[in-house]
Amino acid sequence: MAKVTISLIKADVGGFPGHATVHPQLCEKAEEMLSEAVKTGIVADFRVMACGDDLELLMGHAKGENDPEVHELAWKIFTACTDVAKVLKLYGAGQDMLKDSFSGNIRGMGPGATELEFTERTGEPLIAFMMDKTEPGAFNLPIFKMFADPFNTAGLVIDPTMHSGFKFEIWDIQDHVRVFMDCPAEMYDMLALIGAKSRYVIKRVYPKEGGKLPSEEPVAAVSTEKLYEIAGEYVGKDDPVALVRSQSGLPALGEVLEPWTFPHLVSGWMRGSHNGPVMPVAFENANCTRFDGPPRAVAAGFQIANGKFVGPVDLFNDPAYDAARDEANVIANYMRRHGPFEPHRLPLKDMEYTTLPRVLRRLEDRFERVE
Ligand code: 13P
Ligand code: 13P
Ligand code: MG
Ligand code: MG
Repeated sequence: MAKVTISLIKADVGGFPGHATVHPQLCEKAEEMLSEAVKTGIVADFRVMACGDDLELLMGHAKGENDPEVHELAWKIFTACTDVAKVLKLYGAGQDMLKDSFSGNIRGMGPGATELEFTERTGEPLIAFMMDKTEPGAFNLPIFKMFADPFNTAGLVIDPTMHSGFKFEIWDIQDHVRVFMDCPAEMYDMLALIGAKSRYVIKRVYPKEGGKLPSEEPVAAVSTEKLYEIAGEYVGKDDPVALVRSQSGLPALGEVLEPWTFPHLVSGWMRGSHNGPVMPVAFENANCTRFDGPPRAVAAGFQIANGKFVGPVDLFNDPAYDAARDEANVIANYMRRHGPFEPHRLPLKDMEYTTLPRVLRRLEDRFERVE
């Protein structure tokens, strides 16, 4: 059976105003260029979305991951949208466009990308998650809960096709190495790593061998780009995206959505320098306002039909998430009251790439030795 590839590629090419939202003209430009790409056959289908100030391109095709044509298309769209952003003088026009010319793959150039290639099933639910004002490790907790926590995912206990658990691919994004871990057998080792979310991030999740689904086809994938490593300094957070498949041997849709009832603490928010809660919101509320946040998550639900998108359903546009939003606001108030104090402000190690070291350097020769 033919495989489909779903590519979710995103960039901040200018905020409106500040770092709050994406201007509608950027979405229009992206729609126009993707419509053209459908006609010329580069992609089969697409959706243009936005979360905070991040422009999100969701594309369906049959070309596999890291396809130069698909990546170049995304790069060209972000370049054209940067031009629109410059005309409108949007804030930080071209913010994530860190390289001058395209060289075959969009990874390492600034934009974030996550892709899943898989054999499409008879019924293929897929959820695209997009977050603004945080970093890739913000997905560790919810993805862990979906695929490994029996208190979240009933199927791990009661569905024989899920009972053996899943395999996790974890990246050390500092040393650029990875490890595959078997869950639940190695769950405690795995948590020792992924609890340190600024360094160890869940990159992909796979089904176990001998199960209902092909064990080599990932069922979830997360973007892991680190902007400061490309730019050498703080230019904005690495606002992450993820794709998650669901049902029939995988967590049910509701099990994929359940972790988001907990507005867990992530790093990002104002100037990429503060811890705060993730607030799950409807697309129309994905505007990063208060203290440039709080960090937002949106979820677009689809059925995939021959590489085309049926949907989206705006999955957090639901009163079932009101309590999580209220709790996020309570936590936001509490965290904000710390002002410049840790642990609201990130620890010094994580502030290395911000503007803080420049302030500290100015005080360097004021220090006197003490006993
Ligand atoms: P599936 O095994 O068909 O995914 O059914 C589980 C379910 O939907 C329960 O909510
Ligand atoms: P973005 O990473 O979303 O552009 O936000 C940057 C920022 O500094 C927010 O205060
Ligand atoms: Mg921005
Ligand atoms: Mg952003």
